[in-house]
Amino acid sequence: MEPVKSPYQIITLEGKVLFSAGEVISEDSIQSLISSSAPFSQKIWPLLDYGSLKRDLLFFLNSPPYSSIFEGSDGITEILDIMKKIKLAEPVLEVLDYFEQHDYFTYRHMLTVFALTILIARVLVPDYRKKVSEAAYGPTHDFGKICVPLDILKKEQPLTWDELQQLRHHALAGYVLLSYYLKDSHSIAARVARDHHERRDSSGYPRGIALADRLVEIVTVCDIYDALISKRPYRDESYDNRTALEMLTDLARKGQIGWQVVKALIASNRHSKPKYYDTVVSIEKRGVPPPRNSYGIIKEDN
Ligand SMILES: [Fe+2]
Ligand SMILES: [Fe+2]
Repeated sequence: MEPVKSPYQIITLEGKVLFSAGEVISEDSIQSLISSSAPFSQKIWPLLDYGSLKRDLLFFLNSPPYSSIFEGSDGITEILDIMKKIKLAEPVLEVLDYFEQHDYFTYRHMLTVFALTILIARVLVPDYRKKVSEAAYGPTHDFGKICVPLDILKKEQPLTWDELQQLRHHALAGYVLLSYYLKDSHSIAARVARDHHERRDSSGYPRGIALADRLVEIVTVCDIYDALISKRPYRDESYDNRTALEMLTDLARKGQIGWQVVKALIASNRHSKPKYYDTVVSIEKRGVPPPRNSYGIIKEDN
């Protein structure tokens, strides 16, 4: 990774500042952070045995619209089977506790995006099971949101430009924090946290690079989809499924995300569960976005 200035501080839940605002983040500085920190007295927990996580996950996946995505396939069994093998360090799991208590949208979102990712990845990434078990990859794509003030995460009004930059800081912050906790800046989890807002046409953030990694792209698409179909603080209603899938089709048409991932998601939404490569995508637009939706609207700073 090219060196980049951290626009805001990167701080752990325990209050340890890893990078101050304005400090340069580079491969070297992350490596020295990893090697200078004493080994944590890390307790490792199986993800599914942690608190109420398994019960919450099953509740989310058995509620609409997820229930129809996972019905009629062995999706939930497969997800539980994969998750059963994931063990994460306690500080990583404590972040899920933090969101469960302080920002339930983000808690739910981290779990459902991970479940959707597994569902799509098992179709598109042949060695996915191996990757998951080797990489301590968990429901951590938005891990860096612990560095974003809760009043910004939960804001119902349009964000100011500065607030948007603070929100976007979660990608880089997640990369640094997961590198630090997993002691590996090349782990899939750290890369997913950093790159899941990039786009194929380089129009994303934080680095504006071309999204090229298949697994990251699956998280990217599931992330956009989940944000659309969930209730969010900045709008009264969620997108209905059809409109959300049309939005993704639009992004694929613009070259921002790949067709295969979008098709796999559309296929999982169809009752007949066709193969993704047999899935014909309609270009007809019939969906209507929900009213009073302030997502993407920036309030001008004065
Ligand atoms: Fe994110
Ligand atoms: Fe997200």
